[in-house]
Amino acid sequence: MKVSLTVNGARRTVDDAGESETLLQVLRDHLGLTGTKNACEQGECGSCTVYLDGTLVCSCLVLAGQADGAEVTTVEGLSAAGAAAVQEAFVEAGAVQCGFCTPGLVMAAHDLLAHNPDPGDDDIREALAGNLCRCTGYQKIVDAVHRAASPTTTP
Ligand code: FES
Ligand code: FES
Repeated sequence: MKVSLTVNGARRTVDDAGESETLLQVLRDHLGLTGTKNACEQGECGSCTVYLDGTLVCSCLVLAGQADGAEVTTVEGLSAAGAAAVQEAFVEAGAVQCGFCTPGLVMAAHDLLAHNPDPGDDDIREALAGNLCRCTGYQKIVDAVHRAASPTTTP
């Protein structure tokens, strides 16, 4: 199956996507964009979060054919767009341990801050509720989002 999509601003075509393959598989296995992680493949962990036509989705739940013609932004595209501040805040706050959840969390945090530049704890926990982390206990992730929201004032 042929799938054409715009990924991080560039037109990409995959000629040999399987009928049952997902957008996650297209991104990782066909396009080499391994920043988007594959963990549960059931929509439960948020590791595979990307923007699909401007909305955050779990790419493991989107069939490749459904993404045909769509615009996709992955965590690699966020970096290019200047979301490095969010990534730096995660590192500085100690919110990255094994790092497997981090790309999905960065996507969710970036989306939250785009809509709410000064979120409270409850806003952050609600926005990140779909992203599981086995390592950090979440408080450092919340701290990281606060830090990203106020990079010059948060200690
Ligand atoms: S891999 Fe998609 S939600 Fe877990
Ligand atoms: S840092 Fe390991 S799963 Fe979150």
